[in-house]
Amino acid sequence: MLFSHRNVVIALAVLVTLFLFFRPSKLKEISPLQYLRALGKESPEILNSTLGFQQIFVISLPERSDRRDAMTLAAVLSKIDVTWIDGVAGKDVLDKVVPGDAYDKSISKGNKGSWRAHMNVLQRVVKSNMTSALILEDDADWDIRVKSQLQVFAQAARPFTQPTPKKPHKPIADLLTYDTQMPPELSFAQIPSDLVPKLTPYGDDWDVLWLGHCGTELPKNSVLPPATPEGTGSTTPSDPSQRPPQLRISIPGDPTVPEARHLKAHPFALNDALGELYPPHTRIVHASSATTCTQAYAVSQRGARKLLWQFGLQTLTAGWDLMLRDWCDGLYAAPAEGKGRKRPICVTVSPPLFSHHFGKGAASDITAPGGGFVNKEKEMTPYVRLSVRLNMGRLVAGAGLEDLVDQFPDEKRV
Ligand SMILES: *[C@@H]1O[C@H](CO)[C@@H](O)[C@H](O)[C@H]1NC(C)=O
Ligand SMILES: *[C@@H]1O[C@H](CO)[C@@H](O)[C@H](O)[C@H]1NC(C)=O
Repeated sequence: MLFSHRNVVIALAVLVTLFLFFRPSKLKEISPLQYLRALGKESPEILNSTLGFQQIFVISLPERSDRRDAMTLAAVLSKIDVTWIDGVAGKDVLDKVVPGDAYDKSISKGNKGSWRAHMNVLQRVVKSNMTSALILEDDADWDIRVKSQLQVFAQAARPFTQPTPKKPHKPIADLLTYDTQMPPELSFAQIPSDLVPKLTPYGDDWDVLWLGHCGTELPKNSVLPPATPEGTGSTTPSDPSQRPPQLRISIPGDPTVPEARHLKAHPFALNDALGELYPPHTRIVHASSATTCTQAYAVSQRGARKLLWQFGLQTLTAGWDLMLRDWCDGLYAAPAEGKGRKRPICVTVSPPLFSHHFGKGAASDITAPGGGFVNKEKEMTPYVRLSVRLNMGRLVAGAGLEDLVDQFPDEKRV
């Protein structure tokens, strides 16, 4: 019989093989999200009100009612549920509570307050044994399509965050760090399909997902000797096994990524190198390296414990984002901690998914990226096309996706 059960199974297998074989070329025509849906790998948990994390915290001073109003609306309009964590004023941080090594250093009051607020969130995550939490600063902005962006990100992060099911049970990023000039790179469509996490949709083996920043670098060749510190003040651990892995996951054809000329961390910044390295509308997921600003980062339970130990009890030497940068870069890797110790797993994304919102005529804030850029005329949010903040009036009025304003429309081609 021609249409026997067996024949149908064989025909299906051939179809699936053909489909898998032609994946990379197909991806040029469909968006990464359509691709995920076609394969049924879209992690539907990420569509929930906490974006697939156990909880979302927003750090905000109670007296900044203006920021709380704006964040409340931005969250609700994005179908997201947030929990406040009160910001801490520097003057309220007693000398005796800061880690010992901070005494000799002149840590600013602002940095002390910010440090304490972030430690308070980590403490809460640890105390409640949360599997994961997303931590936002109260001026963070995002694209109204953030849920689908995170579905794509979660898949792209797995080569870093999810050990292979077969031996050697390590993330692919660790297996692909080899000794060449060219860093290893996988396209979104080449990610093996057997990386299926149990604990969180973002993977089971990670510490930090740095989703909102004001600058990051693609990790440098991990076999070269450590670079001398320049500019950022960051250095490289001398032990190569402690440096961030070099793998890049490229997500081509992402319609939520602006063209290269719009890729910059603030209005006065130079354009990101990413725009020159990749075709337009490419997003790259990679290990965190020299990342700064903490507009948005997620921690796993393990990551929260490690960070609370390191920075609640041991170290307070700089602004929180700079300490987190160095921690992710592997600089706190003390060999004395023994064999079991592992380099932190911090994954980031360029361009970022969350970004600092530069409000209209906002009070100058010296800690803002760009040195407190204030523009009374023009509000903006770097990197974010369908910004929730900039479309808030329309969203409140019930506008649909097609009625929203794109901050960075593509150049018209003639
Ligand atoms: C959203 O999904 C995550 C991951 O499955 C889960 O931990 C979290 O509790 C969910 N949030 C809500 C509000 O159900
Ligand atoms: C914390 O949660 C993990 C699972 O996520 C569980 O195995 C562990 O027993 C919990 N610890 C406590 C103290 O409840």
